[in-house]
Amino acid sequence: MGKLDGRVVIITGAARGQGEQEARLFAAEGARVVLGDVLDEPGEALAKELGECARFVHLDVGREDDWTAAVAAAKDAFGSVDGLVNNAGILRFNELVGTPLAEYLEVVQVNQVGTFLGMRTVAPELAAAGGGTIVNTASYVALSGMPLLTAYAATKAAVVGMTRVAAMELADKGIRVNAMCPGAVDTPMTNPAHLDPAADTAEATAAVDELYRKLVPLGRIGRPEEVARLALFLSSEDSSYVTGQPFVVDGGWLTGVSVF
Ligand SMILES: NC(=O)c1ccc[n+]([C@@H]2O[C@H](COP(=O)([O-])OP(=O)(O)OC[C@H]3O[C@@H](n4cnc5c(N)ncnc54)[C@H](O)[C@@H]3O)[C@@H](O)[C@H]2O)c1
Repeated sequence: MGKLDGRVVIITGAARGQGEQEARLFAAEGARVVLGDVLDEPGEALAKELGECARFVHLDVGREDDWTAAVAAAKDAFGSVDGLVNNAGILRFNELVGTPLAEYLEVVQVNQVGTFLGMRTVAPELAAAGGGTIVNTASYVALSGMPLLTAYAATKAAVVGMTRVAAMELADKGIRVNAMCPGAVDTPMTNPAHLDPAADTAEATAAVDELYRKLVPLGRIGRPEEVARLALFLSSEDSSYVTGQPFVVDGGWLTGVSVF
């Protein structure tokens, strides 16, 4: 028995990083998964590896027509949709006074508009299926500041805000909506060495770990599998009385200021 037996879940940004681990874990727990991403090649390869329980769709989360097509593809393959993980996101570093408007809007389009469009498009499908779950991916910078992240932090705070409103509006349709707020997680977003075939990823991870050893009470950067397990909890019956909340998964980083 899997925790997601019989479920059909769309996962965005599923070609790599946290989305990939969510797709792997959800499939292992019995879900049929629809993997959406702009990275067609790794997304197709992952769906092929997962087998009959998985489909890849090209999905730019900032595009309304892509969402319509993704939902149609999910229903065509698996009959209905009763879960969504809004995971796709991008990160840009810049000082407030140096951030071009185009860059700010680029981040908003993916992280904020993408989450909005995903919930707006998929929620009626979840209602038609008799209920379901939405898990949005925010960040610890939705709850705490960090220099150079004006655009990113704004969008992640918006994700938490939308999560609360959606949870209230959709509760009577049997839909629970929650948000995850990861701290630093070892994916290509934080550790681009993962994208360089020539790089020694173990060495790069060790260097990153050295940085987070001092910052994070648990003494290391997080693993994408650890975020996937929170997504599983929030998508399964284990969290049946939980909705509208941001869940921090950060090794204790936001707990307080360390003096050691
Ligand atoms: N890695 C971290 O430390 C960290 C911390 C907090 C929050 N997050 C959030 O977790 C989520 C996953 O990040 P990750 O670390 O796995 O990063 P990642 O860069 O490894 O993966 C992000 C995925 O999203 C996809 N994507 C980007 N733009 C897209 C678009 N327009 N449409 C569809 N897919 C798109 C990418 O192709 C990629 O597959 C993001 O929302 C990110 O903001 C990450």
